[in-house]
Amino acid sequence: MFQKIAVIGAGTMGNGIAHVFAQNGYPVHLIDVNADQLVKALQTIQKNMDRQVSKGSLTADEKLAAYERIGTFSTIEEGVHGVQLVVEAATENEPVKLKIFQELDRLAPADAILASNTSSISITRIASVTKRPQQVIGMHFMNPVPVMRLVEIINGYATDAATSDAIVALTKKINKVPCVVNDYPGFIANRILMPMINEAICSVYEGVAGVEAIDTIMKLGMAHPMGPLQLADFIGLDVCHSILSVLHQGFGNPKYAPCPLLGNMVAAGKLGVKTGEGFYTYPTGSKDLLVSDRFL
Ligand code: CAA
Repeated sequence: MFQKIAVIGAGTMGNGIAHVFAQNGYPVHLIDVNADQLVKALQTIQKNMDRQVSKGSLTADEKLAAYERIGTFSTIEEGVHGVQLVVEAATENEPVKLKIFQELDRLAPADAILASNTSSISITRIASVTKRPQQVIGMHFMNPVPVMRLVEIINGYATDAATSDAIVALTKKINKVPCVVNDYPGFIANRILMPMINEAICSVYEGVAGVEAIDTIMKLGMAHPMGPLQLADFIGLDVCHSILSVLHQGFGNPKYAPCPLLGNMVAAGKLGVKTGEGFYTYPTGSKDLLVSDRFL
């Protein structure tokens, strides 16, 4: 059913999604209005594929074939021509996504499925700006996309069974595990993950324990690959804050209110890995996990 797939947004998630589709044999149109971002995305995909070659999970020939399946486009109009699926992975901002879906509805082939990689914005609201809400669905990949097996599939209120079944089948074809959920705030992944992260931040805020102790307890005690504070830095503290706000507003329950310390860190521009400082600092070139001075 899917011969060609478009991916909108060439950031971390978009380049990972393009990588995985291409690696599994699907020609991909990677679309971004920012030409520099497209160049950077191709470099990241090369680097991540090289890593797979050096680990032996991809041969050099497979890498070349996969890489050549990715074409880049600077407009939606050109990029969605002849595709059967569009996966939107643009910035996590509702007005931006609504505008993209209006445009996609106008420009993508009528039978194409329109998926969003949103981590918390309502699929039902996104679908409502299109004339094909039955063909709109959430396809929530996890970061780093080439490594993480899960895809959370979100059925909006109007998503039909044919669309959901096709996306589940595609997810299995790209060697990922689909889990289908309904469209309520935070879906499942972030409804459960974000309160844990928020609780870890509140524990720092209240002085219950230090950053390293909290992360070590969760890593060694619960076998999590990263502690919740390191994971928050990895996801981006602004993203965590915005998802918690979606949960807080969507359920009207104070238990989801973002910790004031998280609000302060976001306001101060300490967003984690991407700005070089969050709960830890990330000096260029260093692989060590260094707790930020502020939390020592
Ligand atoms: N592309 C390809 N391969 C990659 C990669 C990438 N971008 N990043 C890592 N890898 C590979 C490595 O090559 C390595 O492969 P082998 O096992 O074959 O050796 C493997 O992944 C492990 O990588 P590293 O040895 O470099 O480092 P690590 O063991 O610390 O693993 C990690 C890194 C996979 C990120 C691990 O720390 C981890 O699982 N962290 C938690 C990630 C997580 O929870 N993600 C979900 C975030 S939430 C989200 O995405 C959704 C949301 O809505 C907020």
